[in-house]
Amino acid sequence: MVELVWPFKMQRLTGIRPPILNGPMHPRPLVALLDGRDCTVEMPILKDVATVAFCDAQSTQEIHEKVLNEAVAALLYHTITLSRDDLEKFKGLRVIVRIGSGFDNVDVKAAAELGIAVCNVPAASVEETADTSMCLILNLYRRVTWMHQALREGTRATSVEQIREVAGGAARIRGETLGIIGLGRVGQAVALRAKAFGFGVIFYDPYLAEGVERSLGLQRMATLQDLLIHSDCVSLHCSLNEHNHHLINDFTIKQMRQGAFLVNTARGGLVDEKALAQALKEGRIRGAALDVHETEPFSFSQGPLKDAPNLICTPHTSWYSEQASIEAREEAAREVRRAITGRIPDSLKNCVNKEYLMAASQWSSMEAATVHSELNGATAYRFPAGLIGVAPGGLPGAGAGVEGMVTGALPLAHAIAPVSHPPHTPSPGQPSKAEADRDVPSDQ
Ligand SMILES: NC(=O)c1ccc[n+]([C@@H]2O[C@H](COP(=O)([O-])OP(=O)(O)OC[C@H]3O[C@@H](n4cnc5c(N)ncnc54)[C@H](O)[C@@H]3O)[C@@H](O)[C@H]2O)c1
Repeated sequence: MVELVWPFKMQRLTGIRPPILNGPMHPRPLVALLDGRDCTVEMPILKDVATVAFCDAQSTQEIHEKVLNEAVAALLYHTITLSRDDLEKFKGLRVIVRIGSGFDNVDVKAAAELGIAVCNVPAASVEETADTSMCLILNLYRRVTWMHQALREGTRATSVEQIREVAGGAARIRGETLGIIGLGRVGQAVALRAKAFGFGVIFYDPYLAEGVERSLGLQRMATLQDLLIHSDCVSLHCSLNEHNHHLINDFTIKQMRQGAFLVNTARGGLVDEKALAQALKEGRIRGAALDVHETEPFSFSQGPLKDAPNLICTPHTSWYSEQASIEAREEAAREVRRAITGRIPDSLKNCVNKEYLMAASQWSSMEAATVHSELNGATAYRFPAGLIGVAPGGLPGAGAGVEGMVTGALPLAHAIAPVSHPPHTPSPGQPSKAEADRDVPSDQ
């Protein structure tokens, strides 16, 4: 079956060239959503300054070379990784915006060296992630998930003996110590919630300034070992970076209290799942709840955790609520808009590699080259108004004769030479005939 997809997921070509939405004759900047399809929230925010396209890709091999050659901005979730090699494939990229807070799937240093700003949306899901973390912590203590499961399986709980059996292991929270690793936005929100439930809260975060413990009324641990030794439940809320891969491993698990709980809603790479599985089997860790995993999407039937007991898993959804999702997408689109209409990185609100970017010598020379005299000092990416809508699921009116791409595909060789942006773009509010011709009806 031939499925027409639009526009940029890498597919086997039918022999006809794919439609060109942007290029030297069409100076409007191209913004690409790399690992998703739905641009309905982003379009209203960007349509007058950019062409918006989606790629629905899981790796850069699946991204069409038109995007690789021409996209100036990329939006992405956490399901695609951009290493240095991946970033080097993009020829005109100036800004990447993560729709969410974690940006460990992008090599931000390499991006800076290539002159690409990386931004995130740090605030949208703080409450959702903290609430989910609490929910998982409470589940480990109060065993709601397992009791539900027992009832589903037909277990009766009428006598005290039966109740003991079903609820066995359910524990009192008051007086327990919750150890938070990483007291950032989510970590702090969890600390506030946990206190209300009766936990004594301690934390370890070597990057925070002295005194934060007093502001929040928490006890600070000087070392990770101190935190592990003193916690009945350890909850991970640090960012994943080059220094803390497998922070929780066989060695650090042995520093934890016998029978402690472990919760991870931060990043899968922080926990060595093989060591955790072993500790769960031996009862050294009494229970664990993981929203994030070393390999995602997570499957209970694969990997080292497949036969681990006392484990609750959710599919990296702590961040999600309809409101948080929309808020994150709107804020990401606004950041792209700021990049297009302003100066990178000064106009950006949440640039996470600004220091690297400023330090990279490449940047200063490039900036001078891209500033356009007409644009009050804005970069060349301050493009005029214009719109092209890209419909999810197909080009409206596309039929068999329409240039398109078919599924089942082989990656294309990147044969097209890099397309440079035209030196002279029309002034804002001065749409050209070419732009008018490019307007495509869109349901986005
Ligand atoms: N599961 C989800 O859906 C979801 C949603 C949002 C955030 N997250 C993740 O949750 C984590 C926290 O997010 P945030 O918005 O609070 O981030 P944040 O940047 O506000 O806070 C992270 C904190 O971790 C600290 N930190 C870094 N390395 C550390 C280490 N080795 N030991 C101790 N502390 C360390 C930092 O100093 C910082 O204070 C991130 O990993 C993020 O990716 C997951």
